[in-house]
Amino acid sequence: MNPAIKKEIERRRTFAIISHPDAGKTTLTEKFLLYGGAINQAGTVKGKKSDRHAVSDWMEIEKQRGISVTSSVMQFNYEGFCINILDTPGHQDFSEDTYRTLMAADSAVMVIDAAKGVEAQTRKLFKVCVMRGIPIFTFINKMDRESRNPFDLLEEIENELGIKTYPVNWPIGSGKSFKGVYDRDKRAIISFTANGGHQEVEATEVDLNDEHLSEIIGEENYRTIVDDIELLDGASEEFDLDAVQNGKLSPVFFGSALTNFGVEPFLENFLQMTPSPLARESDQGVIDPFEEDFSAFVFKIQANMNKAHRDRIAFMRICSGKFERENEVYHVQGSKKMKLSQPQQLMASEREIISEAYAGDIIGVFDPGIFSIGDTITMPGKKFKYFGIPTFAPEHFAKVSCTDTLKRKQFLKGINQIVQEGAIQIFTEPYTGYEEVIVGVVGMLQFEVLEYRLKNEYGVDIRRETLSYEYIRWIDNALDFDVKTLSLTSDTKIVQDFHDNYLLLFTSEWNIRWALEKNDVLKLSEFGKAQ
Ligand code: G4P
Repeated sequence: MNPAIKKEIERRRTFAIISHPDAGKTTLTEKFLLYGGAINQAGTVKGKKSDRHAVSDWMEIEKQRGISVTSSVMQFNYEGFCINILDTPGHQDFSEDTYRTLMAADSAVMVIDAAKGVEAQTRKLFKVCVMRGIPIFTFINKMDRESRNPFDLLEEIENELGIKTYPVNWPIGSGKSFKGVYDRDKRAIISFTANGGHQEVEATEVDLNDEHLSEIIGEENYRTIVDDIELLDGASEEFDLDAVQNGKLSPVFFGSALTNFGVEPFLENFLQMTPSPLARESDQGVIDPFEEDFSAFVFKIQANMNKAHRDRIAFMRICSGKFERENEVYHVQGSKKMKLSQPQQLMASEREIISEAYAGDIIGVFDPGIFSIGDTITMPGKKFKYFGIPTFAPEHFAKVSCTDTLKRKQFLKGINQIVQEGAIQIFTEPYTGYEEVIVGVVGMLQFEVLEYRLKNEYGVDIRRETLSYEYIRWIDNALDFDVKTLSLTSDTKIVQDFHDNYLLLFTSEWNIRWALEKNDVLKLSEFGKAQ
């Protein structure tokens, strides 16, 4: 391979940051961008909280979508690395796209609020990272506030998420008495000086054996850290880079993104431990990122919400080689040679048209409606397909029908189009002959988007009746028995998806367990097979 291209690919690091809303994902991302010189001032990535209130009208939806488009991926350079941070939209923006984004990352940074521990959204996103076996790094944030005992936090991560942890550093106190962290590798204390909590702080390094240490961090903190170090050295996991890279061991860092404490050491360690672009499996075997030929797959499609332009942006992750704008490429699923139109990269809030990009990078291209999620793009002559993207379980369900039966055709056309873009999933009830469609979404906002788009793009008004189901599971082995004969609670519903797979809708986790207990043959899965 051309050494210049190899070098470019080797220096790429593509990761997603996952967290529950408010744990500090935006603040941490911003600090990374500041280090990389991509932005000059904090507050550039997203508006203040006050701008992010509940979504009620279209303008708001568009603004929300705007946020998720512009901050989809941010690229910057830091100490020789070229870093791509993938945003995983949260808050009202949480949708299946949030999960799909993780399919494009080579590793994940999990931000946890030190006072709250593992929260619901982190748990959901974490499951997807585990399914992919990508490395997961933990940043325990907000140590400048009162927080939970660090040993308890690690135990919670290990028990709740089922991953082993390796603390790279260890906090000394928290909140008002937060004095810094102990760096286990350097065997030194990096001390923190509070300054009202809203400014960045200077970090100073003090050797563990320094005679003034107990004066610097306080007598009580000193005694605690000495005990903690003994416990850590005796009881904690050994550091094992292979286990980290296989997603079995999560290196843990403590810090405070807001005051910038611990962010740079985290970034430096993380960049050393996290892999360069990973190889990916296709129907013709594993494709090495260092292969000369360009290849990519589509992981997200962003509809243009402006009615005047029914175009879309397809986001693709480059998996091998170098992309050059003037070259023809091959869209495998469409069996067509083409040039990718207006390839662009997003940097903080700016978009720029690019002429080249490398394995590890994400590009957005103009899509006149030809791409679907999971599609493979290669060089002409190569016809392999990357294994697609699974379907993720929706959590909100509604029965949807059009108010004017004469418009049923437009209704179905519109709804199918939106399904293909991956914004919603639809299900039908077999054996009933009902004409209604059950729509499932990962985030509630998608219902509003559906309603708005059907009205504005297809002239269809809909009736929407919320259903009380909260869980859906794919039946993995529906061919092995007659689905009608399953023994299920009266509030469990059998449905079929767009590809005629059988699924079960449940109102509670208890009902899932009941179904599994009463039907020995039944195998359920939380992810739908990639199509
Ligand atoms: P998110 O993207 O994960 O939702 O979280 P975000 O970074 O927006 O942070 C949520 C709130 O937590 C923000 O405060 C932010 O300033 C604060 N925060 C983030 N990191 C730290 C930290 O290390 N220490 C402390 N003390 N606070 C932190 P906010 O007042 O809710 O919002 P804003 O008005 O500052 O935007």
